[in-house]
Amino acid sequence: MQSQNQHVPYDLCKPQHILVTGGAGFIGANFVHWVMKNHPEVYITVLDALTYAGRRSSLKGCDESRYTFIHGDICDAQLVEQILAQPGKRTYDGRPIAPIDAVVHFAAESHNDNAIADPMPFLQTNVTGTAVLLQAVRKHHIRFHHISTDEVYGDLSLDSPEKFTEHSPYRPSSPYAASKAASDHLVRSWFRTYGVPVTISNCSNNFGPYQHVEKFIPRQITNILTGRPAKLYGAGLAVRDWIAVDDHCAAVWAVLTRGKLGETYLIGANGEHSNLDVLRLILTCMGKDEHDFEHVADRPGADRRYALDASKIERELGWHPQHTQFEEQIERTIAWYASHQEWWIHDKAATERSYQLQGH
Ligand code: NAD
Ligand code: DAU
Repeated sequence: MQSQNQHVPYDLCKPQHILVTGGAGFIGANFVHWVMKNHPEVYITVLDALTYAGRRSSLKGCDESRYTFIHGDICDAQLVEQILAQPGKRTYDGRPIAPIDAVVHFAAESHNDNAIADPMPFLQTNVTGTAVLLQAVRKHHIRFHHISTDEVYGDLSLDSPEKFTEHSPYRPSSPYAASKAASDHLVRSWFRTYGVPVTISNCSNNFGPYQHVEKFIPRQITNILTGRPAKLYGAGLAVRDWIAVDDHCAAVWAVLTRGKLGETYLIGANGEHSNLDVLRLILTCMGKDEHDFEHVADRPGADRRYALDASKIERELGWHPQHTQFEEQIERTIAWYASHQEWWIHDKAATERSYQLQGH
């Protein structure tokens, strides 16, 4: 059923206490910062297993009285039940905290190269972990927003104007994408079968602060900062549709609070660039010659192009990306990594060793 009335929310949700899974990861941590800044009335509980990709220090600066951090695994059904069954409580200084009334589910194994090397942890966290959460929100009648990816739709050819829409067929090409596609199907089936109040968003490639140095943009920036060569997979012709992470966070809030239950929303910012162009931009912004990089092996089965049509969320929920000056956002990201070495330096050598073993 489609709304006739543009910009009028169909299923208002005014969360008071959100469980953010994966809140110590890249997008999850940015989301926690974003909510704290923009919705000071909301209390947050973070559940994160602190895998190699999660870091408590990504939440540094968040007001300690407004969130609780729980170190644990979303696959641990007992722990998840215990968290969601909690009645309201009080902060240490006596202010009331409502019971959890919404879950925003970011926790995942998220990196394609790791999935190619060993897909099994992806099935465990992305599929089983999502099912565990769904069972718990079903039992406690809690609103659930599932964070997914454009990769579930496979890839597009480099020379067509086509973009993914909410109606595109699911055609995941990699083990990571297949595990995320499976989780989307679970979420939809829990809606239809059990009436669990869910929404799903599928976003394109994010960039910004707190992204692990294994990912394309931070890898190049931190390679250059540490005197290593930048690394381009294949000829670098693959295209990704980049979005600043803050725009993703605002879009998730729009879907959580105003989205129609059972619906999927694509999130993107018309930010298509080839990997080669992104790398040249980073090199130039960092004062290097734009040819100063190495070509390395591409991924087996590599996806060529992702591109999203985000007109549904713009039309129906009134969300629009705000940070669309790509060069300016890349400069801000470079400045963040240059001034936060302590956040990433401990991961750098191990990440590069692992890439070397994989031929990247
Ligand atoms: P990330 O790898 O940076 O962070 C994942 C977080 O989840 C980490 O903090 C990790 O410790 C935690 N985690 C992993 N397994 C867990 C488990 N079993 N239990 C509890 N916590 C666990 O990932 P990200 O890039 O921030 O992605 C977050 C979500 O957004 C994922 O669902 C991903 O599929 C989706 N997504 C990412 C992008 C992107 O460009 N990064 C784009 C679209 C969608
Ligand atoms: O599209 C959304 C997806 O974006 C998310 O679902 C994933 O969680 C996220 O990791 C990201 O997946 P990609 O595989 O597109 O991102 P990654 O940063 O790993 O790579 C982007 C492109 O850059 C890809 O074509 C491979 C290439 N690449 C990557 C690295 C690490 C390079 O050329 N050099 C590199 O060193």
